[in-house]
Amino acid sequence: MSTVELQSATHEWREGFSLPRDLYRDAAVFARDIEALATSQWLLVDHESRIARPGDYFTVDVGSESIIIVRDKDNSVHAHYNVCRHRGSRICLEKQGSARALTCPYHAWTYDLAGNLKAARYMPQDFPAAEYRLNPCNVRVFNGLIFINLARDKGPSFEDFIARFGPILERHDLTSTKVAVRQVFPTTANWKLVIENFFECYHCKPAHPTYCSVHDEMKMLAFGAGPGSSDGLAAKYMETFSAWEAAERHAGRQTDMFADGPDTPYFQSAGRLPIGRGNATESLDGKAVAPLIVKEREYDGAQTGCVFNPVSVLLANSDHAIGFRFNPRGPLSTDVEVFWLVSKDAQEGVDYDPENIKAVWTVTLLEDKTITENNQAGVCSSTYRPGPYSAQESKIAEFGSWYTRLIGLNKASATHG
Ligand code: FES
Ligand SMILES: [Fe+2]
Repeated sequence: MSTVELQSATHEWREGFSLPRDLYRDAAVFARDIEALATSQWLLVDHESRIARPGDYFTVDVGSESIIIVRDKDNSVHAHYNVCRHRGSRICLEKQGSARALTCPYHAWTYDLAGNLKAARYMPQDFPAAEYRLNPCNVRVFNGLIFINLARDKGPSFEDFIARFGPILERHDLTSTKVAVRQVFPTTANWKLVIENFFECYHCKPAHPTYCSVHDEMKMLAFGAGPGSSDGLAAKYMETFSAWEAAERHAGRQTDMFADGPDTPYFQSAGRLPIGRGNATESLDGKAVAPLIVKEREYDGAQTGCVFNPVSVLLANSDHAIGFRFNPRGPLSTDVEVFWLVSKDAQEGVDYDPENIKAVWTVTLLEDKTITENNQAGVCSSTYRPGPYSAQESKIAEFGSWYTRLIGLNKASATHG
């Protein structure tokens, strides 16, 4: 789809309405989405406990690219394009493993963990091996969370990207956690429908009985999908929130929150809120499901939410945290990749049961998969037209603006009406 065609696809888009059909299903739009996300954003891909020892690696798919994330002997974390510099074969064929060096399965060119070419059989003596190191990918680790960026240069400033999350996650000891369990929810829907669903709680009551049994009802209306997700409804919850906030401040705990508008590079938001209903953590019965991961050593019944960008989200409770990677796989295909973190010293079967840790979000994400796939099926109909958002969907109204800017179609170029 050319830029002109793309602009005509946005022609019918009006602020406060869902996006036009082609933006949710067209292959060329998808290619443009992936390129924009991969180069302009830092993408949360996993927790570094996945590569605990030197030589441990895993691979990550971003569009048609495969990236190797590997821990070096000096404990540093590298990211390399999974493309041999000889004739281009994939090097690591497994999703994860451990290796002393990275050896291509085709002709056995061998690279060290930092990506330097160390051996190339029968190449001439004066062969300039230094010129054939693996192509590096931008990678940074923050509080144990691994982020990558696929810009051809050094990419956007990671310090600017992450700055506001340091204070908000300060009380959580995420570097001292490990992945307890992970699950992928393959969803037959465009990534924007998946994200839009994640960014509103208008659907929570009809679609998520389990989630609703854990969280305070008024909070879900006011902040269901985090700060800034529900304009105009926050006021009704403020009495409860203000009392909680005062008590938290008195206890020396921070309660700051922020929500970026659509004219920002990353559309970030974060905040800490009580789960509600007297629950200690976000579990089926509200009771603790693992040892504490907060420095204050008490279950406080609050949850910290961090939207690093729309495809990279973290929720942190007192005893476990949940990382969400929304991975666009194709125009009509998105993998929701989720990992649950617990204290690194916690023993499975003794201190925690992975099934309990993931219970609330597994049932919620399976419900989300169903409703989002139904949404995509309807959006593909010739009769679909962009529909109006409610006050509880204010965040995705902004997401539409952020997204059209992301792919270079700012609102000024779209004709309204
Ligand atoms: S393509 Fe990798 S060694 Fe030939
Ligand atoms: Fe949902």
